[in-house]
Amino acid sequence: MPGTSVIGLQWGDEAKGKIVDLLTQRHDVVVRYQGGANAGHTVVVGEEVYKLSLLPSGVLTPGVTCVIAGGVVLNPAKAIEELGELASRNVEDSDNLKISDRVHVIFPWHFAEDRVMDKNTSDGENIGTTGRGIGPCYRDKVGRSYAVRLGDMYRDTFREQVQHNVEVKNGILAAMYPPGEFAPLDAQAIYEEYRAYAEKLKPYVADTTEYLLTAAEAGKRILFEGAQGALLDVDHGTYPFVTSSNSSGVGISNGSGVPARYINHTIGIVKAYTSRVGGGPFPTEQDNQLGQQIRDKGNEYGTVTRRPRRCGWLDAVAVRYTTRLSGVDSICLMLMDVLSGFDELKICTAYELDGEQSTRFPSHVDDLRRVQPIYETLPGWSEDLTGATSKSDLPANALAYVDRVSELIGVPVEMVSVGPARSQTISLK
Ligand code: IMP
Repeated sequence: MPGTSVIGLQWGDEAKGKIVDLLTQRHDVVVRYQGGANAGHTVVVGEEVYKLSLLPSGVLTPGVTCVIAGGVVLNPAKAIEELGELASRNVEDSDNLKISDRVHVIFPWHFAEDRVMDKNTSDGENIGTTGRGIGPCYRDKVGRSYAVRLGDMYRDTFREQVQHNVEVKNGILAAMYPPGEFAPLDAQAIYEEYRAYAEKLKPYVADTTEYLLTAAEAGKRILFEGAQGALLDVDHGTYPFVTSSNSSGVGISNGSGVPARYINHTIGIVKAYTSRVGGGPFPTEQDNQLGQQIRDKGNEYGTVTRRPRRCGWLDAVAVRYTTRLSGVDSICLMLMDVLSGFDELKICTAYELDGEQSTRFPSHVDDLRRVQPIYETLPGWSEDLTGATSKSDLPANALAYVDRVSELIGVPVEMVSVGPARSQTISLK
């Protein structure tokens, strides 16, 4: 009953796509179950670089069934664009894709809401969303009144649904935008555009809950591909500076419909340092020359938005928390090559708040803003790691860093990644 999950344990961009790609070969089914086209997965296969936002990275592996489960919010234009891109590059197996008829669909009003609402948080700081309509679509899903699921788009009532939603949303959006800045949406044009999308996606639409339950019961090997990172989890992350889905391990069952009992191994993906894109507190941030050095070496610019990512030291308090939250069994430590060339490296091992030291990750964002990170300093290494292929190729200081991370987080590091290619992965097992 080998169900495996891959979860990012920081604020996203931990290079999960690479590990999912490696593991895919040992699975029958790969599932995306939350988020949407806010994610950006880069997979390098030989000379080819693929950038996927919505389709599971598994589409690059022949013979694997890929599922976009009901917990995802779907931008249909993006799905069609990515399918077209794979077809044009002769990636054969994109036919083996199933998209849940339960996914909620992102419409133009969601993009318009995302643009205006991001600037209006009660906290005063922007969330800095990816602008992909993710939050507004999830809000309508929970609110129910104006939601549209993919399955609705094949019903006779779809035209009426769009008409009704556009009327209401035009009123709401006109009130939200500064006078004269919102051009009303055209229901007929949206209906026609989305009917065309529905037709193109028809061959892929399925009841994926039923499909996955049957696959799990039959003992199929299922890989659950988390998007974003656990610190962006809407319930357990750095709220309100989070995404709108459960991006930690707790989201797998509700997003996919597969009970937790079928997931027997969880791999946490951790960057050897920390990055964050968008607003919100980041205790170990290095908003200085050092942070810039990490950003340049690690090419820390958003895959989806190209925004420069904020960079800083590894925060073991945060990662230990998300490791426990997601029930992680082992860790893959990514982008280790980026840390070459620093005289010394720091890891945050505790926080100080109001004169007290603690390893608890604060539940309120105001407390997280006020913590002072307590660092442990480790010696760096100067060797370039990108050519390392086995444990014995790693310098002693790099191995000491890996061991210390494992000790602080409380689970073994099973793999170290030293570059984007499949071959640049070192197993420590
Ligand atoms: P949203 O998911 O577009 O609503 O954005 C909410 C927050 O999550 C913002 O800070 C985004 O920058 C962040 N975010 C969303 N998706 C990703 C991702 O895939 N990687 C990193 N950050 C993300």
